[in-house]
Amino acid sequence: MLIVSYYNFGIKAVEKAREILLHDGDILDAVEKGINVIEEDETIRSVGIGGLPNFEGEVELDAAIMDGRSLKCGAVAAVKRVKYPISLARKVMEETPHVFIVGDNALKLAKFFRMEEIDLPLKESYEEYLKKKKEVDIKGYDKESFRHLAEDVIGHDTIGVIAFKEGFAAGVSSSGLGLKIPGRVGDSPIIGAGLYASNEEGAAICTGVGEIAIRLVAAKTSLDLLKLGYSVQESAREVIRRVNEIRRRENIKYSLGIVVVDKDLNIGAAANYKFKYVYWNSNDSVEILFEDADFLPP
Ligand code: GLY
Repeated sequence: MLIVSYYNFGIKAVEKAREILLHDGDILDAVEKGINVIEEDETIRSVGIGGLPNFEGEVELDAAIMDGRSLKCGAVAAVKRVKYPISLARKVMEETPHVFIVGDNALKLAKFFRMEEIDLPLKESYEEYLKKKKEVDIKGYDKESFRHLAEDVIGHDTIGVIAFKEGFAAGVSSSGLGLKIPGRVGDSPIIGAGLYASNEEGAAICTGVGEIAIRLVAAKTSLDLLKLGYSVQESAREVIRRVNEIRRRENIKYSLGIVVVDKDLNIGAAANYKFKYVYWNSNDSVEILFEDADFLPP
């Protein structure tokens, strides 16, 4: 069994997911419940209910889940009020014939499934939003005002989890870039960009500025590179090398972190900022380990 996530808060997600796998739970439960722990954490400003609002002061959430055994997947984007977006993404996958539901209709679906709702933004998150809005001096809907959103100023630390037990599953959930243009969707709910899982190939999860992960179809690209003979580490590094190339060419401070797992459960991780990934492998140790990803200076 293997569980992988990233950032300090990923430790809590891995703990929860491990508990589920050790109690004979399914990998989808491990991914969902692991991510739920972070989605309900009021102190995290880049995921779930604690997330920073968009430019208009509203919290819009993105999430997706994928089952590598069947290639089934589900996603929601720009959904408001839903306490557990990853659980709604799973409902889309399991209870509808569709893959991706967005905006007000995603909330409508959540109501249909009687999923938990919450008034957002939370007070602390709204206060932070007001402060940041002043700091970054966004004046309106013009390109220059919003340029900072791709420039690493405001948090984009998504929660991503990969679980393996006789098959792969992956999930990602995020409130997206703080102060984003309303309706903006990041990489987290985009299958192939923010995540991918396939028993044939492995699994990958991304975090960072979603726009560049979408442009590079980062998660799926990393798995395609494995098929070309790259190791997990080389594959993760190659994705970040491509990010850095665009970053230099366009002079936009795109940041990205990626974790790639191959069929043999090797883990590769790279980022163009200081980034740590976290994992538990039932074969190696009872401990949850926290490691530095390869750093490729931009
Ligand atoms: N990676 C999260 C986002 O850009 O929305």
